[in-house]
This record gives sequence, structure tokens and C-alpha cells, in this order.
Amino acid sequence: MSVFDTTLRDGEQTPGVSLTLDEKIAIARQLDKLGINIIEAGFPVSSRGEFESVKSIANAGLGCKVCGLSRIITKDIDACLDAGVDIVHVFVSTSDIQIAHTIKKSKEEIIAAAVDSIQYVKDHGATCLFSAMDATRTNPEFLTKIFRAAEDAGSDIINIPDTVGVMAPSAFYQLVKEVTDATNITVDVHCHNDFGLAVANTLAAVEAGAREVQVTINGLGERAGNANLAETVMSLHSIYGARTSIKTEYLVETAKLVERLTDVKIPITAPIVGDNAFSHESGIHSHGVLERSDTFEPGIMTPEMVGHRRRIVLGKHTGRHAVRQFLEEGGYRPNEEQLQDILTRIKELGDKGKQITDADLQTIADVVLGEVDRGKQAVVLKEVSVMTGNIITPTATVRAVVRGQERVLANTGVGPVDAAVKAVRLLLGDEAMLRVRDFRIEAITGGSDALAEVVIGVENASGRRVAARSAREDIVMASVEALVSAINRLMLLEERKDG
Ligand code: KIV
Ligand code: ZN
Repeated sequence: MSVFDTTLRDGEQTPGVSLTLDEKIAIARQLDKLGINIIEAGFPVSSRGEFESVKSIANAGLGCKVCGLSRIITKDIDACLDAGVDIVHVFVSTSDIQIAHTIKKSKEEIIAAAVDSIQYVKDHGATCLFSAMDATRTNPEFLTKIFRAAEDAGSDIINIPDTVGVMAPSAFYQLVKEVTDATNITVDVHCHNDFGLAVANTLAAVEAGAREVQVTINGLGERAGNANLAETVMSLHSIYGARTSIKTEYLVETAKLVERLTDVKIPITAPIVGDNAFSHESGIHSHGVLERSDTFEPGIMTPEMVGHRRRIVLGKHTGRHAVRQFLEEGGYRPNEEQLQDILTRIKELGDKGKQITDADLQTIADVVLGEVDRGKQAVVLKEVSVMTGNIITPTATVRAVVRGQERVLANTGVGPVDAAVKAVRLLLGDEAMLRVRDFRIEAITGGSDALAEVVIGVENASGRRVAARSAREDIVMASVEALVSAINRLMLLEERKDG
């Protein structure tokens, strides 16, 4: 099964999306890494910039084939050929409604022009893909006639687009079957998602004999978009037992890159690549998944297969089992009473609509189990001062008591927060052989006296990770406090482990 990606052409027609040359090249490289067979890089005749980006992608030395879009007009085809693409995708409207209102040619003239264009592409040594635009609203006899003419003219692939996304899967199956029976070349489909059926229609087409699928990352495309690549490919692999060249472990990485560059957010509930695709909150589900993941996951598709990760999310539906597992992984050993107390606090926060992060859980656990640990803090912060401005290098001085011994250290950084964080780490020397894995300013509320909430995640040499948060009006103080509290937590957990 060949996978044809049109993220850079139809996907870029998503209202509000416009990519720079560098962004397009970055996406093309990622698509190549993902194992796409054909990338539709753009519509070269449409503008100088579009021509240049198609040309750059065609010359980028990718392993996949690169395709350019063209009307059945010589100057369009020439633009594709000049851009150096391997495949020219020629298209023409074939439905009565589009013919009457957009191209105003007779059906005979349309067939003749399509045939001329296909022969022109072939004469110039490129592969030809022919699309009958709005095929699903085209008179079936005319559709068969133009596809047969395209095959006779030498087209390598014919494409059946459901341009306005109006097919039901059973009807599309029927149509694709008629076309595959009437022709002897590769049949490709291009489904739009106006009724949310683009993936279902694409899969129905494969059942009917289509051998190439046109898809986009994150389902981008005109109006409601095109068939989503991840959903189509994973259904083909896991449900239909079909094979493609897609390296599915890069699906999430690719989806995130395209999300970042197009600024079109992936919904948290999106299948396969959405944040919640392998997340479990409810007590029954989490318990089941912790025992055996396929109790409440498909099993035929795992997070590892698509480059995702399984998450047990704590919230008001969380059960004891999940909380205990979370705490034990973090090095806490609560007794039954403490566990119940922690669970009650989590549910109270959940009832207030809050999702409980690792940092929240650790804070709750520290409070509940804290009696034992109070006064045992390895690092006690005494003072932080920073100097910054446009003519001096930001410098921070930190004074702290580390295991009973007072230490002072000053350090510079790219900004005051960086200087302060580095100063704390240097101050601790070998004791803070740790990496800052995560630094997030989670919320800033209000005006210039706003409260900044900082979350810092750190990891020590043995791979143990903790996170801590702090909220202050002063962002440097919030950062240092969060860091010190993460370090204390890490040291405490190591002591508990050793003790
Ligand atoms: O939706 C459509 O019909 C298209 C064609 C150019 C294939 O995008
Ligand atoms: Zn389209």
C-alpha cells in the first residue's frame, strides 16, 4: 500500500495555515523519516515562493518521491517539471456542478485536454497521477470514460477524490470497486472530512481495491481537512493487517512537529497522537491497565508502536491502586491511613476541576507523610539576590545551608533565572549531579505584580526524577524555590531508598 502525503499541498490549504520555506523543508524531511512513499510538495505555478519550495524539496535528496500539483494546462505542468518533481499530479473537475460553474468546457474537451496533459507529462519523463476532481459527484459513466482515457494516455495512477466529503463508506466502496474493475492501473483515493468520514471512506476504498491513499498529518486540509495519516495507517496495520512503509514509531513526533509549525492544535482526544490517546484516569480502567495494558487499550496498537506513552492521570476518578503505584514509584511508602488521606485530597482537587500533576501529588504526599520528614531538609535556602540590566551580565548570588553547612556562591547566566538556577546547582557541587529535565512557567496571573507559578523537574545520576513547584510574585525566587524543593525531595527519596 502506497502512502501519499499531501500535508504540504492540501494541508497547507487549511484556512489560517501558511508555512515558510524552512518549515516546509523540515516537514518534508520528517515525512521522509516517517517512511512516506510520495510527498505532494505544493502547487508550483501558484506563486514564486511555492515554486521555490517545491524545487527545494525536490532537490533535498529525500528517499521518497516528490510530487507537484498541476491543472491540465501546459504552463502548470512546466512549472512542476522545472521544479524537478518526480510525479506530476494533473487534475480537472469532472462533476456537472464544477464543470458548469468553474471550467465551462464540454466533457469531450475536458477528456481531450486531460489526455494531452497526461501525454505531455509522460513525454517529459515524469510519472503521472491523474485526478478527476469531485469524482464522487460525477456522472459514473463519464467518470469511467475519463479514467479509461487517462489510462490509455499513459497515466500511471488515477485518483478518485471525494472533494467535498459527501460519501458514505458503503457507497464509496461501490464506486472504487467500479473504477478498479474498469481499469488496470493503480487506483488512489483522496477523501475530505466534511462529515468526519474521510478515514472510514479511505479504508473502504482499500477494501474495494485502492492501492494508494492520500492523507495528511493531523488531518489538515481544506475545510474539515483530509484523511488523517496516523488514523489511516494504524487502522491499515492493526485492523486490516495491511502493510505500508510507514515507521509508525515516528507518528507522534511527526504530528507534534506539524502541530508546532502550523499552530493547529491536536485535540487532546485525537486518536493515536492526542495527549489522552493512552491516558487512563478512571479507577477501574487504571487498575486494569496497570495489571495488563490490553484490558482497557486496543492491544493491537500500543503506545510504543506509535511513539506515545501510557499515562495514568490522577483526578477525581482515580482509584487507590493507581495512587499507590504512583507513590511507590516516587519512593513513598504510605500506610493505609495515609494513602486514604492522599486519595481524599486528590479527589477534592479533582472535584474542583483540577488535573493532578506529578508535582501536585508529590506535594500532597510530602504534606501527608511530612511529619516524619520535617526538619530533615538537606538544603535550606537563606538568601537569593540578582543583578541584571542591559549593560551587565545577569548575576545571581545564593546563600544556603547545605546539610548544616552554610555556603555562598555567585554565578552568571543568560538571564536572572538562568544565573540563579546555575548558582544553586554549583553551590551544591557533587550533591546536585542532576539534570533539569523540565522548567515550566505554568501560570502568570494579573498585572506586573502577577503571581508566577514555576514547575521544575530534575533527574539525578541514577535516573530518579522528581518535580516541584513554587509560586511567587518574583519569578527568580519562584524558580529557585522550586529547584531547591525538587533537590530536597530527590535527596530525601535517595535516603529513604538507602535506609
Ligand atoms: O480535493 C480535491 O479534489 C483535491 C484535488 C486537487 C485532488 O485536492
Ligand atoms: Zn483535496
